[in-house]
Amino acid sequence: MNQEEIRSCTKQYVASIFQEEPTGHDFEHMKRVANMAAYIADEEGADPFICEMAGWLHDVTDGKLTDNENQAKENLHTFLHKLPLETEDKNAILAAMKDVSFRGKHIIPYTYEGKIVQDADRLDAIGAIGIARTFAFGGNKEQLLYTEDEQERSQPGTSIQHFYDKLLHLKGYMNTPTAISLAEERHAILEKFLNDFHEEWKKFS
Ligand code: ADP
Ligand code: NI
Repeated sequence: MNQEEIRSCTKQYVASIFQEEPTGHDFEHMKRVANMAAYIADEEGADPFICEMAGWLHDVTDGKLTDNENQAKENLHTFLHKLPLETEDKNAILAAMKDVSFRGKHIIPYTYEGKIVQDADRLDAIGAIGIARTFAFGGNKEQLLYTEDEQERSQPGTSIQHFYDKLLHLKGYMNTPTAISLAEERHAILEKFLNDFHEEWKKFS
């Protein structure tokens, strides 16, 4: 089995888990993170195959996306075990997937490949696609788009509030120069969108 066949098995595995995912963590998110991680790895002189594989798999054991985290971890180990990968590569993939998420706490992955996958995941949360994913997530959780009500605003909750709580900070948390540069443009898209949103809101509210 060559890298192309390993990639194809991985896509099938990821599709079987995320094909129908409605909160912006679907197969296409995994694909973008995998491709972006491989691109950043190329630019940064890291291992593109390890980054791509970890990008495909980075969300499969995420507690908020699975009912049974332990089972998901076991399934992942079984899946990786069946692939003809060197133990060293398997461990590098697992290490690069660990600690990718940014949720409240800010953990910097300890491997270079992990830092790259984290950058790719964060880049997919900003820019035009990041905006789309935020409202997909918010809609799925039955959140309001936005409210001017001070009391409601103080509850964690509207999708617009999520931009201020998290998305506008992501640019400052990129690990690699390549991601820092990609984040600039995507961050500017968020800022323009928020400006336009508030302008339109003010006119007829
Ligand atoms: P990760 O990608 O590490 O799993 P999250 O689950 O926090 O991180 O975020 C993934 C996506 O879900 C992002 O696009 C983000 O904007 C969206 N999201 C997460 N929390 C919220 C929220 N409270 N409101 C709207 N969108 C959210
Ligand atoms: Ni993700």
